[in-house]
Amino acid sequence: MCGIVGYIGESTCGKPLEVCLQGLQRLEYRGYDSAGVALVNNQMTQVAVRKKAGRLSNLIDDIQRESLPEAIGAIGHTRWATNGAPSDVNAHPHTSSDGQIAIIHNGIIENANTLKIALQSEGYVFSSGTDTEVAAKLLGKIAQLVIEETGKPDLFEALRRMARMLTGAFTILAVDVRQPNIVVGARHDSPLVVGLGQGENFLGSDVAAFVAYTKEAMELGQDEAVCIDAHNVTVTDFYGNEVHDSHRFIIDWDATAAEKGGWDSFMNKEIHEDPAAVRETLLGRFNTKGDIVLDEVHIDEEDFRSIDKIIVVACGTASYAGLVAKYAIEHWVRIPVEIELAHEFRYRDPILTSRTLVVAISQSGETMDTLMALRHAREQGSKVLAICNTQGSTIPRESDAVLYTHAGPEIAVASTKAFVAQITATYLIGLYLAQVKGTMFRDEIHQIIEQLNAMPDKIQHVLDTQSEVVLEAAKAMKDAHSFLFLGRHVGYPVALEGALKLKEIAYTFTEGFAAGELKHGPIALVDAGEPVVIIVPSARGRNTLHNKVISAIEEVKARGAYTIVIAEENDPDVNKYADVIFWRPSCPTLLSPLVDVVPLQLFAMDIATLKGFDIDKPRNLAKSVTVE
Ligand code: AGP
Repeated sequence: MCGIVGYIGESTCGKPLEVCLQGLQRLEYRGYDSAGVALVNNQMTQVAVRKKAGRLSNLIDDIQRESLPEAIGAIGHTRWATNGAPSDVNAHPHTSSDGQIAIIHNGIIENANTLKIALQSEGYVFSSGTDTEVAAKLLGKIAQLVIEETGKPDLFEALRRMARMLTGAFTILAVDVRQPNIVVGARHDSPLVVGLGQGENFLGSDVAAFVAYTKEAMELGQDEAVCIDAHNVTVTDFYGNEVHDSHRFIIDWDATAAEKGGWDSFMNKEIHEDPAAVRETLLGRFNTKGDIVLDEVHIDEEDFRSIDKIIVVACGTASYAGLVAKYAIEHWVRIPVEIELAHEFRYRDPILTSRTLVVAISQSGETMDTLMALRHAREQGSKVLAICNTQGSTIPRESDAVLYTHAGPEIAVASTKAFVAQITATYLIGLYLAQVKGTMFRDEIHQIIEQLNAMPDKIQHVLDTQSEVVLEAAKAMKDAHSFLFLGRHVGYPVALEGALKLKEIAYTFTEGFAAGELKHGPIALVDAGEPVVIIVPSARGRNTLHNKVISAIEEVKARGAYTIVIAEENDPDVNKYADVIFWRPSCPTLLSPLVDVVPLQLFAMDIATLKGFDIDKPRNLAKSVTVE
């Protein structure tokens, strides 16, 4: 949701502001309703705060018009509004009543109203409609109490005391002019990572906040607080007990990976990184004999062997990757695979045992719904394996094991390369299970691995040969009011994903259906000119399936639909019913989602571009949904 950055360094200079603005630029994908910074130095009597509604560029322009003072420490925030409309006054940072403390916050403080009423009864006045201002005023009050008790300011202690009083989800960073040489933070059910520098330290919602300055990072655990100065990082629980086992890691990507690098949008860049995302996710996962080795997944082989059911929990695009996995893993491993939207999962009393493997798929590793689902699964005694693209994030940390996708940072809100990487990771898990359970012969597994290794080139082929056709189709269809997407078998999740992309960035009413469902209702939507996108499986070995989807095309065509068809090269059956064809190179049906989704990603991007929309930052959305 919101993006948070904090910085403290050795000397007074322009760096704190620079780090905050650069960090916010890299975190803007997390929310872009407003942005703000707060700076502290030794001479200030009140924190210097500047904040603006709208994109980060509004804030930057404002600072250029009227500069901010030099500082030692700074915090910065980019907001996705949950509590209080997007406006200058609701933008973060918020300050204590005396202006000596400023805070920024990600999450929702559920008991904010109760706290606010209590503060109002003591005479506190509020100017915004946010829960964050309540925390700011409360922190100011507690900081004053600490001074009265101990005779000196202790922002770290004050923050911990406040954290113990809050319910809901929060990451809060705070600065205080009485202690300008520290930045403090606390987290509960919301992300916060530490960047470790030389003579400077950083805090961020994720490592993108500071990767341009340091590659060394440290995870913070649940209900932990942190105090950074230029040379030290102190981590405690909310009661002040020091925590010594925080996990340190080296960020495995470069700041340039989170830059557009000449592309017109991150989404365009990231679609073109689909082949690399699959290739990198496969890399290093096989031994010299060609067997799958998942050493990093610290689940015992014996435990893997005993698994008799898989439940995938995920949201949005990640859930569609899970649906692809169902078809592949059930076929290869012969155990049931259920796929469940994470936000529905724990409210329906799912049947979980110690032999159930719960696979939590998440690009960001911070999706609150998925996090809550995995916590529920672990409480019920099931093992949780995370498939995640983000180091240092909460979901892998709270899972029993993790298989990282190596798609690199995904900045565009609409997920693209992470989707193909997630599918690839689920294939690896399926084939690994088949290997340890012996449900397939080794040579069969090796043959699929070989086909899987060929997929990045096939995706590249689609990008090289189909982009023009896709653009022409987008030009023809850009003014359509709605779209239907149809697929069967693994084409079904691809249809759902294609439809989601178009909704997200082109703001077009679009529905994805299982093609077999058409005659049970959705065909009533088909009228003259209605665009229908259909994913046709290969005729090789899937003849019945292929013929049934061809019949679906015939049915919609007969009712005047404009048909956009994805089909295997040289499929002779599609020409007579298709207005447009996006060709896929021949590949095994179970692996085909990796290529079939590519033209649909391009199609959504082209339509949104032609409509003049912001491709990377669609309205109302945020990249990582850290509230339930
Ligand atoms: C994808 O385009 C969406 N923005 C969204 O559905 C996303 O996939 C979903 O919110 C899950 O996010 P995660 O993978 O970070 O958990």
